[in-house]
Amino acid sequence: MIISRLSLTNFRSHAHTTVEMGAGLVILTGENGAGKTNILEAISLLSPGRGLRGSALSDLIRREGDGGFAISAHIQSETSALTTEPITIGVGLPTELPQNRRIRINGVPTSANRLSEWLGILWLTPAMDRLLVEGASGRRRFLDRLTLTLFPAHARSYTRYEAAMRQRNRLLADEKGYDPLWLDGLELAMAEPAAAIIEARHRWMTELTEKIATQQSGPFARALLTLQHGLPEEAGLENEGFFENKADLTAYLQKIWQQSRARDATIGRSFYGPHRAEMIVTHHAKNMPASQTSTGEQKALLIGLILAQTALVTEKNGQPPILLLDEVAAHLDPSRREILFDRLRDIGGQVWMSGTESSLFEKAGNTAHYFHLTGQNIITR
Ligand SMILES: Nc1ncnc2c1ncn2[C@@H]1O[C@H](COP(=O)(O)OP(=O)(O)O)[C@@H](O)[C@H]1O
Ligand SMILES: [Mg+2]
Repeated sequence: MIISRLSLTNFRSHAHTTVEMGAGLVILTGENGAGKTNILEAISLLSPGRGLRGSALSDLIRREGDGGFAISAHIQSETSALTTEPITIGVGLPTELPQNRRIRINGVPTSANRLSEWLGILWLTPAMDRLLVEGASGRRRFLDRLTLTLFPAHARSYTRYEAAMRQRNRLLADEKGYDPLWLDGLELAMAEPAAAIIEARHRWMTELTEKIATQQSGPFARALLTLQHGLPEEAGLENEGFFENKADLTAYLQKIWQQSRARDATIGRSFYGPHRAEMIVTHHAKNMPASQTSTGEQKALLIGLILAQTALVTEKNGQPPILLLDEVAAHLDPSRREILFDRLRDIGGQVWMSGTESSLFEKAGNTAHYFHLTGQNIITR
């Protein structure tokens, strides 16, 4: 699917902005602060989660606006654009009740998790430059976003898991003591979605690893991925097919949570579980932890990962995800940039790119859609 029309109302710096485009490369240029990343962020909010900046909803409301915001997108398949009616996705925060974001698909209210059934969206932003160096939580979010574009049900599993875990943590913290039977129930309510989370992540990693091995790496380095699922004594379990067996996994998770009740009550949280997973990334050619490679090499690793993921999703789901590449072109030398444009065009979907200089996109080709942002308005060329 691609976005054929995007309208923003009182979203960040955009009072009223509407752009129309087709498949292929969509290029946003403009000075610092012109509102390019804001547009990419709006698109990222058409998928479950808090978008590419991870911001609170209240930050998204235009400061001089009326207290709400709206993002509306027409989406169409790459091939049928202009021949079929588009689907309309609306995400917004109404002025009258500014707490919950409101999501509508063709006018019908729905939950955020359903968005992933329509659009798979992946992004790379300057803020992710430290993803491979900093703490595990950023990599975990990245891992889940990649898993989600392959298995849309992943978002719902995560929501269910976290809700049950919050209840377990609260019950364990109760000074009056806890009812073991009630805890049994909550741990089962955690174990079922947790087993689904672990299985989906494991399947994603196995399939992506195969994809990476068959892809031409070109100038974008190959990554080697390993997952730790946040469980005790994981070593070897993978070889036994353990992470693909939901029934065994569910029983195992229930057992470890039951055994760790006393400790979890002391520390005030659940020590084990997929919320503690860690994704370890190694630079394949250098046989070196990604965190020890140079900033440029890390960027190349992440671009390589996104390209492999895109190929995998396209093959599995029959349609490519939408890519949002914020300030990626500026990091590459001209020859790498040209290779990247070629590979992005070959995807056959829609790829949004931003940069301050239009010269960065000279080789993007005449099929690309160009928009220049001045802060006040948008000039199409
Ligand atoms: N809630 C908001 N209301 C109004 N303006 C905002 C809001 N949030 C951010 N901005 C403005 O948006 C601009 C940044 O836009 P951004 O899309 O990040 O720029 P760039 O084109 O450099 O990517 C800044 O000038 C910032 O002040
Ligand atoms: Mg920006």
